[in-house]
Amino acid sequence: MKNIVLIGFMGTGKTSTGRLVAGRLNRPFVDVDKKIEQETGLAISDIFQLYGEDHFRQIEREVISRVARYTNTVIATGGGVVLKQENMVRLKNTGVIVSLMASLEIILERTARRGIRPLLDCEDRAERVAKLFQDRASLYMKADYTIDTSYMSPQQVTERIIVLL
Ligand code: S3P
Repeated sequence: MKNIVLIGFMGTGKTSTGRLVAGRLNRPFVDVDKKIEQETGLAISDIFQLYGEDHFRQIEREVISRVARYTNTVIATGGGVVLKQENMVRLKNTGVIVSLMASLEIILERTARRGIRPLLDCEDRAERVAKLFQDRASLYMKADYTIDTSYMSPQQVTERIIVLL
């Protein structure tokens, strides 16, 4: 059975939804950021701070190359996974890609907690989100299915995914 791969901007609910989908379908669940943290022994924000974003992207790429070889698994990715085309090629080979979207306003609300997302730990958070969102919008569209999660709970998104697949 193919993997179910959740992609999408920060704050679209990839991790919460992924866990619920895996539970409902009785499949294993992997959260790529969690796996990176477990394997490096460092929080994502520490990796960014100590070694920089490029280094984080290399680790992410390496973990994706392994995770993409799984089968039957629900995989929640980090929001920047779409930045490397090879990540997407690998994930697509073995999985169905589901893109979770949300409006800018909702993303700003959902990502308001500080200290978790290094890319958004800045003074001009709204501007940063808008810029990243614009730069990446077309990349998130390259999915098999797209769901607007703006007014849905992770439970509702889970039900939608189960109906879709
Ligand atoms: C990132 C998203 C984060 C995490 C890292 C970079 C991004 O994951 O991988 O902070 O570039 O969008 P979430 O989407 O789970 O917040």
